[in-house]
Amino acid sequence: MCGIIGYTGFEEATGKVTCGLEILEYRGYDSVGICAKGQDGIKLLKTKGRVSSLNEALSKSPIDSAFCAIGHTRWATHGAPSDTNAHPHNVGRTYLVHNGIIENYKELKAELEKGGVKFLSETDTEVGCALINKYYEEGCDPHTAILKATGFMHGSYAFAIMFEGEDNTIYAVRKGSPLIIAKGIDGYYLASDLTALLPFTKVYCSLNEGEVVRLTKDGAFIFNKGEPDWKVTNMSFESAKKGGYDHFMLKEMNEQPNAIKNALSPRIKDGLPDFSCDGIDDSFFEDIKEIHIVACGSAMHAGLLAAPIIEGLCMVPCRSYIASEYRYNPPFTQKGTLVIIVSQSGETADSLASLRYAKSQGLKTLGIVNAVETTIAREADFCAYTYAGPEIAVATTKGYTTQASLLYLFAVAMSFKKGITDKENAKSLTECLFFEAPQVVEQTLERGEEIKAIAKEIYESQSIFYIGRGLDYALSQEASLKLKEISYVHCEAYAAGELKHGTISLIERGTPVIAIATEEALFDKMDSNIKEVKSRGSHTVLICTDKMENAHACADRVFVLPRSSRIGGIFGAILAVQMIAYEVARLRGCDIDKPRNLAKSVTVE
Ligand code: G6P
Repeated sequence: MCGIIGYTGFEEATGKVTCGLEILEYRGYDSVGICAKGQDGIKLLKTKGRVSSLNEALSKSPIDSAFCAIGHTRWATHGAPSDTNAHPHNVGRTYLVHNGIIENYKELKAELEKGGVKFLSETDTEVGCALINKYYEEGCDPHTAILKATGFMHGSYAFAIMFEGEDNTIYAVRKGSPLIIAKGIDGYYLASDLTALLPFTKVYCSLNEGEVVRLTKDGAFIFNKGEPDWKVTNMSFESAKKGGYDHFMLKEMNEQPNAIKNALSPRIKDGLPDFSCDGIDDSFFEDIKEIHIVACGSAMHAGLLAAPIIEGLCMVPCRSYIASEYRYNPPFTQKGTLVIIVSQSGETADSLASLRYAKSQGLKTLGIVNAVETTIAREADFCAYTYAGPEIAVATTKGYTTQASLLYLFAVAMSFKKGITDKENAKSLTECLFFEAPQVVEQTLERGEEIKAIAKEIYESQSIFYIGRGLDYALSQEASLKLKEISYVHCEAYAAGELKHGTISLIERGTPVIAIATEEALFDKMDSNIKEVKSRGSHTVLICTDKMENAHACADRVFVLPRSSRIGGIFGAILAVQMIAYEVARLRGCDIDKPRNLAKSVTVE
């Protein structure tokens, strides 16, 4: 949700900042801007649109000899995307970019207006800028001005700030929104996310809540602390590039066999699950009476899939909750409730707030996170990284499959440690997850032509339905989200038996209904549900395992998953629906990696 970046050093700044902004576009891409200290003072350029629009503006109006700059790519919250609402904002002698929301900006704005400040934009950010500028112009040094102003702000922020009179210096502060600083051989950087800085350096430091930092070409200084505690990432810039694929989504879909293995391998010892690398030993499982999985979007769907698996294997109640609801409509908790926060980015505002809520209730928390060193990863009592590597496409694929596989392995671990599953079964489930699931994913990926044929039949439809029972219903929910978020086709997921209680009235001649059937015990029921919609004119597609004998008689088109156990079937079906979404979006000419209105990392509530 908005990306910010800054650089000060010995080399030209604008190229570095726009390069980083391109990488940060996954966080928002409706407007973009930069301000840089050139020969004639600080110059600001901003525009509606993407980084390419900014590059055009810069080619017409270059900012030469600028060695210090800050930039921003926006996902609009307060005020529609426009040149004026784009960041950076400037009030008086202060220039600033912001990620987050200042919730009490209206009150602050009214006060500042009384004092004579005239606002140009509709944003909360300009108010933050004006408040910091007020204290700066009253004579406070930048650090004090920032502390005084942020002391009045409610909400979340990561600010990068340049002040007139503080040449080639960037100040930054964060609360609730991510911000990292980095050190290169050519100077110092900051960004919302480390991937944006990988073209320049691997040496970084995550800022803690409330920390204020000053960057100059000669160093980074964290106030009240001193020199940052630098770390070196093992992420490579290559891993964050498209690598010959048409889209990041396609690349990331293809990375899934390895991603699943990477997620699982650190947690398997002698063929059995073992989470000791995450600090999780046998005692961790002893007092767990129930489990709440809390997350947003696809991460919540990974929870929907995992919850019945955990319940079944571990004999404890387990439910997946939408993070934006969790603390406002809190479910019953008790000593012994384990709260698992699942998040690819590790920064999703509602998931983070749920984590903090759970901790405030004294509950044990575990983060399942992909992006290393992010806030959820750092604040959870325990954290198991999914090690999927950078995920750039807004629609998550490898993020979801690694979350699902890790949660599944966690269930096996807990069941084994509790003595519910015996060693032989625990080994066999672990083996299926580690060997078979990636293999089935790989085999499904090879069947692009069949998926393209399905996509051709359905891509012009107004409305599509996914149906499934049991785990297949959970898969259907992710399938439906994937399809609608990148192809803009209306799509709903239904528990197959529920459609006839109202929604079946929407089925018209040709309406596609895609049924997922990997649950052997429910094949007969699925067969009936498919016939119900087929007899009402629907175009039926069935994604099923080879164990469903009458599949071809039942649906208009059938995609038989590679032969496998139940676990392999689940992962094969996930791949098939991801590929359908991708192909439908491609046929409809959509911007697959950057769907309209969306952002990958949602750091506002
Ligand atoms: C956004 C993304 C989704 C993602 C959700 C949760 O809405 O578009 O793909 O599932 O956020 O993100 P997280 O980073 O917490 O997994």
